[in-house]
This record gives sequence, structure tokens and C-alpha cells, in this order.
Amino acid sequence: MGYSDIYAKWQANPEVFWMEAAGAIDWVRKPTRALNDDRAPLYEWFTDGTVNTCWNAVDRHVLAGRGKQPAIIHDSPVTGTKHVITYAELLDRVSRLAGALKAHGVTKGDRVIIYMPMVPEALEAMLACARLGAIHSVVFGGFAAAELAVRIDDCKPKAIIAASCGVEPARVVHYKPLLDGAIEMATHKPEFCVIFQREQEVAKLIDGRDLAWHTFQYGVEPADCVPVEGNHPAYILYTSGTTGAPKGVVRPTAGHLVALNWTMRAIYNCGVGDVFWAASDVGWVVGHSYICYAPLIAGCTTVVFEGKPVGTPDAGTFWRVIEEHKVKTFFTAPTALRAIKRDDPEGLLMADYDTSSMQALFLAGERADPDTVQWAGRHLNVPVIDHWWQTETGFAIAANPLGLGLLPMKIGSPAVAMPGFDVRVLDEGGHEVSPGTLGAIAIKLPLPPGTLPTLWNAEERFVKSYLSHFPGCYETGDAGYVDADGYLYIMARTDDVINVAGHRLSTGAMEEVLAGHKDVAECAVIGVADALKGQSPLGFLCLNKGVDRAPADVVAECVRLMRDKIGPVADFKRAVVVERLPKTRSGKILRATMVNIADGKPWKMPATIDDPAILDEITAVLQGIGLAKG
Ligand code: COA
Ligand code: AMP
Repeated sequence: MGYSDIYAKWQANPEVFWMEAAGAIDWVRKPTRALNDDRAPLYEWFTDGTVNTCWNAVDRHVLAGRGKQPAIIHDSPVTGTKHVITYAELLDRVSRLAGALKAHGVTKGDRVIIYMPMVPEALEAMLACARLGAIHSVVFGGFAAAELAVRIDDCKPKAIIAASCGVEPARVVHYKPLLDGAIEMATHKPEFCVIFQREQEVAKLIDGRDLAWHTFQYGVEPADCVPVEGNHPAYILYTSGTTGAPKGVVRPTAGHLVALNWTMRAIYNCGVGDVFWAASDVGWVVGHSYICYAPLIAGCTTVVFEGKPVGTPDAGTFWRVIEEHKVKTFFTAPTALRAIKRDDPEGLLMADYDTSSMQALFLAGERADPDTVQWAGRHLNVPVIDHWWQTETGFAIAANPLGLGLLPMKIGSPAVAMPGFDVRVLDEGGHEVSPGTLGAIAIKLPLPPGTLPTLWNAEERFVKSYLSHFPGCYETGDAGYVDADGYLYIMARTDDVINVAGHRLSTGAMEEVLAGHKDVAECAVIGVADALKGQSPLGFLCLNKGVDRAPADVVAECVRLMRDKIGPVADFKRAVVVERLPKTRSGKILRATMVNIADGKPWKMPATIDDPAILDEITAVLQGIGLAKG
């Protein structure tokens, strides 16, 4: 069956569709029904089934005789190492790690924070938690101690598993001092920390709290898989919202298994023995779904790549990995391709490698600009498939499903809604707009299995953030349109979230940091267009009366403050000092107008503006730093 038939089949009877998909999962107790709508508009899936994620990702493949197949290939140009772990080895390593965690009191429902770079041990830690029914929360290594502290206080972990360090091309990232600082700042204290010591840096352990990864596993009984209910949280992953407090997206166990497994064949056309590579980071949702869980659930080999698209050592590194490990499906962010294109515009380095194992290139994380898509398609000679999703959904809302038969490509569009998603484009009043008209993108409830049922400890915030604006629908926070053939076009965010190098960041959170500077009276952060990273944050600072310091000094301090409070991932490097901020008469800062001015786009004077002259002042300041041209 092709896409239209499959989508129609899902529409006709979602219950039957997802129960059939559930047949590909090993259950301890099979669910008797798919959807649980007892608490609508809050929905859950497969609640009366019991299951274990680690069993489905690891044990069952060994049991099926695939123990010798590589499960994980770690390819790390930043440390000059490569390492293969078979499914049998993975089972051994994960069950021992789970055994050690269990011996230290970690049980079903306990939270465990994982703060690790792109090493196989990060996946092993995730799987060991899943084995015990413990709920992991992975924190991206580019976040500062304060961000880690916020997550510690929100999910209250019993334990934290961290690496001693990460390795960025230009520096070693000292994880341990960040971890110590975060625990110091947080009100909640974990009972213990497990530290994976890396050769690049051996961290000093704190007596009575820290345990070394290797020694803490000596002599322990390997742990078996603990069956959990279908709606038991598999993990919490924090993502940016409009305010400084990140949202803890909850991923339910059974729906996650069923949906991810379904996507591997239908969307990515991958199965047992295929090599799947998502060049992202375990700290992001792409890393959870398509570095760790989905490829392993489907019995593929997953590549864990510790490096960058350029500079480790050059713009040919991706193509080298594809050739060497015979990658069938490759997934990256458009920004990575733009970086490669900048260094190797003619694709000369691509020509040095045999990438013929690759059947398709998948892009997500930000809008895929047509130039980049065309450039990649021309040089790689495979379909370049944009697909659209979010941390909240955990898998693609819209894609061109390779495994169901590729649909005609439309460059600039992530193609069509996947089964499970009834996508609507709405006006402010919640009415559907006609094809081609821009609107807010919403999804009719219920969302499919594997998507977020709620936010961790914040059901009210979940309802308010996602379900209240358009009753009966989930609000994606993205704006765009649908064309006459049902292809979606994702154009912008409707909130204060920006996307920098495929990383989702909150300008609200950045403003909270700037407002904490002693000389800043008022501030705004916007995302301005950036040829490499898609968007780049820009701060506007109004200083307190009487402050007569050099503006450049205040800006430099704000840049440092952002690095300290949010982390290098914020990539906050530019700010300007202005006299006043443009506002509406009711005091709302006109950020969207500022973005248009900065990007040199046409803009209209907002009817509600308090003082139009401020926009001239802002334009002049922006022109002073090379923006607002055109
Ligand atoms: N741990 C610690 N620091 C990190 C980090 C990590 N895991 N990842 C990034 N950083 C730091 C970088 O070192 C850099 O610090 P600096 O300001 O000291 O230079 C900063 O965060 C910004 O990093 P990055 O976004 O990687 O920018 P870059 O200019 O170093 O590289 C690209 C540009 C385009 C090569 C890079 O952004 C990239 O590979 N992007 C693709 C990301 C991606 O796959 N996103 C998809 C998620 S689905
Ligand atoms: P994250 O939750 O970090 O995965 O970020 C999700 C957001 O990234 C989405 O809501 C979009 O704004 C953006 N995004 C992800 N994929 C795409 C895509 N293919 N096209 C356009 N925007 C995308």
C-alpha cells in the first residue's frame, strides 16, 4: 500500500491502525486497546499493556540470533577513535550497568539525569534506565551549570550519570565542574553520581557522592528487564518554551516503541542490519529517537558520531563516515550542510568518497532552505527528504515516506502529514484557512502514540501551552501553509522560540539572563537571519539611568553572562545598546517588527506603536552593525 492508502487506513480506524503497528513490539502483556480517552483532552496509548523498552531495543535482537551484529559504531574524529559494540556486547554492558544502578537503589519511576557527550556510554546509560523502568532525562552538554540545576530541581533525580568531559574541536568541555556547580546550585541533591572517566580528562571524584563508572559495576548482578505500564514515562526531555523555565516533555513508553518502530520502515525504509546515522546529539530529541531508540528497536546499526560537519578534520568527514560504515540512511540538520557547502562549495571532498550505500538524506531541525536541498541533491545524487517534527512529537509530523513509496518532491516543503497527524492550518479565531494562506499550524487531537501526553509535573502548563488556544487541537507553535496537494510549508514560529543551528532556543530565557545584569534596565532578544545557522540571537540593551560605562564593556559582560547562565549553545555573541525599545501603547515590545527591520525585509508601521521615532533609532543602530540593509 502507498502513502494515500495507508493514511486513509489510519483515518478510517486509528485504533486498528495502531494496534496493528503494536504487533511488531514484544509485549510482556499485550494491550487490549490502543487509545485511552478517559481523560480527554488528555490522551494516553496502550495503557493496559506492559512492556520494556530495553528488551525491545537490545535483548530481543540477541535472542533472535543477531548478537554478533554491530549495534553501535562510535566514530569520533575529535578523539581519533572508532569502536564497534555488538548487540551481545550491548546487552552485557547495559544489563551490568542496570545491575549496578539497581544495587544502588535505582528502581522503576526514579529519575536519572544523564549529562554526557556523544559516546556509546550515553546510550548505554539511557538503555540501562529503560531496563529498570527508571526515567532518564538527558541534558545537552552545551548547557551551563545553571540550566542543569534547573533540570535537577524540576525532575529531582535519584542519580546523575555524567562523563568527565566532552571534546569540542577547539577545547575540552569540563563536564565535572559544571556538574558540581549545578548540584551546588540546585535545591534537590541526587543521592549519588556515576562518572564515566574519559582519557581526555580524569575528573576528581567527591567522596561519598561520586562513583566511577567502571568500579561501581564490579561484581554486580546484571539486571533483568522490568515490565512497565504502557503509559509509564520512558524519559523526560527538556525543551525551550517562551519563558526561562524549560518544558519537561514526557515520553510514554509503549507509544514511543510502537511509533518509532513504525517510522523506521515507513519513513526511513530501514530494518534489521541496516546502518542508520543521525548526526545529531543525544541531548536533543533527534538523538533520543534516531541515534538511540528507533534504530535499535528496529535492529539496525546506529552510528554515534562525535565530531562536527566541518573542521574534524574537514568538510569531507560526513562522506568518509558514510563510506566507511556503509550508512544506508543519513539524517542531519540543514545548517550542517550549509557549513559543508561553505567549505566545499563544489562538493570536491564528496567526490573523494564512495557514498553509494546511502539511499536517502533526511533533513530536520529547522527549515530546509531550497538552495541547500538542491545543492545536496545535485552532489549526492539521492533523494533529499525534509521532514518536520518537534521534541513534543518525538517523530515526524510531516515527511515524504520513503518506505511507502516516495511521493513527488516539492522543494521547500516537508511533504505530507504522517498517519496519526491530522494537521490543520488555522486563523487567529481557530478557523481553517484556504490552501496557500498562512496560518498557525495545529493538529487535531488526539495526537498519535509516542507524542507527549503531558509535561513533567506541569499538567496545567501543558494544557495552557498546547491545548487552550485552539480547543480540540494541539498548537504546534509553528506557522505555515498547506498547498492544494496537501503539502505543508513550515515558515516560522508563532512564539518567542528561535532556531540557531538546528537548536531550539528561547529568547524569553535569554532576556531573563540579560535583565539580571546590574546595568540593564530593559532588554529584548530577537533572532536575526544568519546564512549559516538559520537564525542568530541579537540582544538590545537599555541601560539604567546614570550608567556611563562604555557600551562595549556592558555588551561583553552580557555575552559572558549568557555563556555562564545558559551555555555556549545559546551562541549569543551580539548585542547593541539602545536608548529605548519600540513598544505598543500597551507596553508590548515589537519584536517581530525589529526582526523584519534587522533582516532588511519590508515591514509596516504597527498601528498600535507608541512612538514611531524609536524605529528610526533602532534602524540606525542596526545599520551600524551591518544589519537592516535593503
Ligand atoms: N558541549 C559543549 N559545548 C558545545 C556543544 C556540546 N555538546 N555543542 C556545541 N557547543 C558549543 C560550541 O563549542 C560553540 O562554542 P564556542 O562559542 O566556544 O565556539 C557553541 O556551543 C556553538 O556551537 P555550534 O552550534 O556547534 O556552532 P559552531 O559555530 O561551533 O558550528 C555548525 C557550526 C553549523 C558546524 C554546527 O552548529 C553544527 O554542526 N550544527 C548542526 C547541529 C545539529 O545537528 N543540530 C541538529 C539537532 S537536530
Ligand atoms: P525541536 O523541538 O528542538 O526539535 O525543534 C522543533 C522546531 O524546529 C519545530 O517546531 C520547528 O519550528 C523547527 N523545525 C523542525 N524541523 C523542521 C522542518 N523540517 N522545517 C521547518 N522547521 C522545522
